Amino acid sequence: MSVSQQSKTTNQTKSVVGRPLDRVDGRLKVTGGARFAAEWPLENMAHAVLLSSTIANGRIKSFDTSAAEKAPGVLHVMTHENAPRLKPVFTNPAEGDAAGRRVPLQSPVVYYAGQYIAMVIAETLEQAKHAVELIRVTYDEQLPAADLDKERGKAYVPKQKVAGKPADSLRGDVDAGLRAADARVDETYRTPTEHHNPMEPHATIAAWDGDKITVYDATQYTYGVRHSVAMSFGIPEENVHVVCKFTGGAFGCKGTVWAHVPLAAAAARQVRRPVKLVTMRQQMFANMGHRAETEQHVTLGAKRDGHLTAIIHEGISHTSVYDEYVEPFSKPTHMLYACDNFKASQRLVALNVGTPTFMRAPGETSGMFALESALDELAYKLNLDPIQLRLINHADTDPDEKLPWSTKLLKESYRVGAETFGWSRRKPQPASMREGHYLVGMGMATAVYPVNHFPSSARVTIRQDGSAVAESSTHDLGTGTYTILTQIACETLGLPIERVEVIIGDTNLPKAMVSGGSSTAMSVGTSVQGAARAALAKLVDAAHADQRSPLYGASADQIVARDSRLALKSDTTKSETFTDILTRAGMKEVEGSYDTQFNDREKKFSSHAFGAHFAEVRVDRDFGEVRITRFAGVFDIGRALNMKTAESQMRGGIIMGLGMALMEETVLDANLGIIVNRDLAEYHVPVHADVPMIDIVLLENFDEHASPIGAKGAGEIGIVGAAAAIANAVYHATGVRVRDLPITPDKLLGKGALS
Ligand code: MOS
Repeated sequence: MSVSQQSKTTNQTKSVVGRPLDRVDGRLKVTGGARFAAEWPLENMAHAVLLSSTIANGRIKSFDTSAAEKAPGVLHVMTHENAPRLKPVFTNPAEGDAAGRRVPLQSPVVYYAGQYIAMVIAETLEQAKHAVELIRVTYDEQLPAADLDKERGKAYVPKQKVAGKPADSLRGDVDAGLRAADARVDETYRTPTEHHNPMEPHATIAAWDGDKITVYDATQYTYGVRHSVAMSFGIPEENVHVVCKFTGGAFGCKGTVWAHVPLAAAAARQVRRPVKLVTMRQQMFANMGHRAETEQHVTLGAKRDGHLTAIIHEGISHTSVYDEYVEPFSKPTHMLYACDNFKASQRLVALNVGTPTFMRAPGETSGMFALESALDELAYKLNLDPIQLRLINHADTDPDEKLPWSTKLLKESYRVGAETFGWSRRKPQPASMREGHYLVGMGMATAVYPVNHFPSSARVTIRQDGSAVAESSTHDLGTGTYTILTQIACETLGLPIERVEVIIGDTNLPKAMVSGGSSTAMSVGTSVQGAARAALAKLVDAAHADQRSPLYGASADQIVARDSRLALKSDTTKSETFTDILTRAGMKEVEGSYDTQFNDREKKFSSHAFGAHFAEVRVDRDFGEVRITRFAGVFDIGRALNMKTAESQMRGGIIMGLGMALMEETVLDANLGIIVNRDLAEYHVPVHADVPMIDIVLLENFDEHASPIGAKGAGEIGIVGAAAAIANAVYHATGVRVRDLPITPDKLLGKGALS
């Protein structure tokens, strides 16, 4: 069966949910009608530009801002010497409050290169940019800590937990496990610092009205921005109104409120005008977090038959000198494979960089590169097929939480993936497949990502004209939130797509949590379904009580909503339109609300999305260039709410994994502590020419324990394991095992089949 046929089969459902509906906001996007944060046309707006530190460690001795202040159009120059006192902001209270511990422009201390040290507010963007160049700064400069390797001696135990687990975790007896092993893998894997690089830069427009402020912000968390701005300025949260209708990509870097947000608000207060602050791409490399560099050591022990006897996953990642963020790379290793003897240990090394943060599947992405590379190495040592090795060690229950899985179609993912990809054509021996000048290789890896859901609220209103609106202050990061919420509301209300409007991204609407952790579809989707049902119930009440209604006396469970009508289940000819019911009842509209609370304390199941990646590479024997020729990903993400946007999420994740495997690497100058490649010309992300055909299969599943709408989350799992599948394919093609990403030609030339 071909992939497209499979998708079609899964799509042959009467349900609106699941259908590969085009994005409801597609037209707005392609016509420029979708308004992003920087695009709100406020009157009398001034422009702020930030000045970044050119040193990575030290103090500001002095500023000379006189030329900047006299420059045309300049309204104000702000430094730590004249900035208003701002309070610290905490946006992620649970862990990793990355922006939290350091308030911008409050002291002369410089912690990292690129840190904001001054701000110019001017009539126009050009005037602000010009004036910022005129500021003269003298520093008291010290040597920065800028090299993970050099600083490893100062590695320390994180104060916080590592993705909810102790930094040092132990299960069983790993020494005994290793003694019982017939084969062993004992290797170090490295992943570099990487950056999110969403197309839309971070941008904030702040407009005060007395003690109240409206903030237009590029964010994954409108209510988080509200909370932070309120805290910064010591004003009630109700005084802060945050708007974000569209977010142009985020991948985690817009989940935290970074320094430019309170600075835009401070600027607007100072000049008593709305102020727009758009950060430069170069500034985004320093100030909005990044995926931390990791050095991971994986030790595997196994019996000859493939059964794992021990797994050890240890290593270090970096944080900043002023705050703590742990890249939780050992997180998936706790639960992925059945093994009685397990040990994880993570340490942190402080560097003079901005604090790292969540980046698409934080933890899994780095960790699964190491773990899934090590599994591949073990498969060769044992002379086992890599899929077979994984099947032998398949965890039938969660070995860490000791809970049954809510659902788990991982074996199915391997099977369908192998079939779709043509895994049987792979010759087991490395460097044994060639195509003329090229070495060809096939590799695979497992994908896994936990189900995260957060409390969220929504409101649904059914109007007398038979239309409806669903509202929640959630976000569409380009993921398809508008579309899937429309589908969920339509299905529940029995309305056609064009009669339902979804309104999101405004703190005047019901609260939603951060759109992170692949949580939004499950959490807000459940709330929209609940709110739609609550609104329908009011409509049923109105019909039920009315003798003139064909539905008179019928109870809610005897009634269905379909084709813009309520009908009796037993006799659907007895029905009435929403409009008739509301008109006769003299009601303009009915409104339903729903708060989704997920009770994780009484957790009876362990819920994760699963999947398998299959990559084919072609390596140039002379130049060491790696091209991905084919890729297949099979996933169990529970119920896919929209086949098209869900497949898109998987493809996007895999493409990001391709970038991770072959090109993405943020280079920190080890002496100066300055990020060398801080733009898209020097930091390479995949372009279309780098991306092959990617076959996606989404396995049919409905996981009622993961979420009432059956979904497990689809934002992040696509990247998890993708880089390992490619690295494993490169090994298979060349016989060269690259354990430090990215796999650039210099790491292959002169080695293995390229020697
Ligand atoms: Mo994602 S890294 O949870 O925004």
